[in-house]
Amino acid sequence: MITTVLPTYNRAPLSFERGEGSWLVEADGSRYLDLGAGIAVNALGHANPDLVAALTEQAGKLWHTSNLYQIPNQQRLADLLVAHTFADTVFFTNSGTESAELAIKMARKYWYEKGQPDRIEILTFEGSFHGRSTGAIAAAGGEKMVKGFGPLMPGFTHLPWNDMAALKAALSETTAAVMLEPIVGEGGIKVWPDTDLKEIRALCDQTGTLLILDEVQCGMGRTGRLFAHEVAGITPDIMMVAKGIGGGFPLGAVLATENAASGMVAGSHGSTYGGNPLACAVGARVMEIIAQPAFLDAVNRKAGLFRQKLEGLVAAHPDVFEGVRGTGLMLGLKCKIAPADVVKAGYAEHLLTVPAAENVIRILPPLIITEEEIAEAVDRLDRAATRLETS
Ligand SMILES: Cc1ncc(COP(=O)(O)O)c(C=O)c1O
Repeated sequence: MITTVLPTYNRAPLSFERGEGSWLVEADGSRYLDLGAGIAVNALGHANPDLVAALTEQAGKLWHTSNLYQIPNQQRLADLLVAHTFADTVFFTNSGTESAELAIKMARKYWYEKGQPDRIEILTFEGSFHGRSTGAIAAAGGEKMVKGFGPLMPGFTHLPWNDMAALKAALSETTAAVMLEPIVGEGGIKVWPDTDLKEIRALCDQTGTLLILDEVQCGMGRTGRLFAHEVAGITPDIMMVAKGIGGGFPLGAVLATENAASGMVAGSHGSTYGGNPLACAVGARVMEIIAQPAFLDAVNRKAGLFRQKLEGLVAAHPDVFEGVRGTGLMLGLKCKIAPADVVKAGYAEHLLTVPAAENVIRILPPLIITEEEIAEAVDRLDRAATRLETS
C-alpha cells in the first residue's frame, strides 16, 4: 500500500523535533551535528534568534496580501540584493526550481523582444541540477531525472561539464544563454575553474549570449563571498538564488541586469506567494547578516580550518576517502566506498552529511558553525571512517 506521503524520498529513520545553531535534536533529546543544513538552506543555523524575531514580528502583523500591492519587506530585500550585487532588479520566488523557470523565460523573452524569436537555445552542462519542474529537468537533462517524464521542453543542449572546446563549438546564432552552477552541488561539488568562467563570460560578451548562473546552492555566503561568481571575478546577466536566502523559510529569487530583464514587463510573469511579507522579512534579515564583511571573513577562516582538517582525515583513512573538493563551506569528500554507507556511518556518530553524485558526500554546514564544532565534526567523521574500516 502506498504511504500517505508520496514515496519519492528514501528517508533516513531520523526525525527531529527542534534545532539549535548547528545541532538538530530528536524528541528523546539525542543531538546530531548538522553538516547538511537542510542541503545548504539553514545558512544561519537552526532557530537563529534574529530570524525567529524577524519572522514572529512579521507573523503578528501580516502574512499575505498578494503582489497586487506594494510589499515593503520585498522592496527592502530587493534593495539590499541590488546594493550588494551586479543586479539591477529582482523577482522573488519560493524555490530554486521556480527561479530556474523564470531564468529560462527571461532569457527567451529577451531575444523575442530583441526581434530574434528563434534565439531560444540554452547551453547547459551534464551533471547539473536546476530543479524538478519540467523546464528544470529538461535544462539539466540527466537520465535519472527525465526518464518517463517526456516529451521534454525543447531548446536545451547538454554539453560535457567544463569542456570549453564543446562550448565554443556549440555557441551559435540560436544560442540565447549559457546556464551553469559555478559550483556543481548535487552533481558532486565540482568547482568551475576561474579561468574558464572568465572565458565563458568573454564568449558570452562577444556573442551577446546571456550568462545565467545557478547559485541556488553555492550562493548566499557559502563560498566565503556573497555569491560564488565573485570568486572568479565575473558577473552573470541572470542569477538564480534560493536555499540560503530564506535561512530555512521558503524563498528564492532571480537577480538580473536591467538589460537581461528588459523583456519582462507587467503581466509577463507572476507568483501568488513569491516575495510574501513573511519570507521577505526573514530574507532581508539573512541578507543584512550574511553581507557583512566580518561575517564572510569568518566563513573564510572557518572554511580554511575545515578543509585542512578534512585533508588530514583523508590522509588518515585512505581506504575510505580519496580527496577534498569545493570552495568555502561548500565542501565535498570524495569517497572510495559508496557515499550512502559513509553518510550512514555518520548517523551512527550523530553526524549529518548529504550524499551527492560522483561518490561524494557533501559538507554544507550552517555558516555560523564554530571552530569547536568543526573539530567535533571531523572527530565524528574520523570515528565513522574507523567504523567502516573495521566493519
Ligand atoms: C543548484 C540548484 N539549483 C536548483 C535547485 C532546485 O531548488 P529547489 O529544490 O528549491 O526547487 C537546487 C536544489 O537542490 C540546486 O541545488
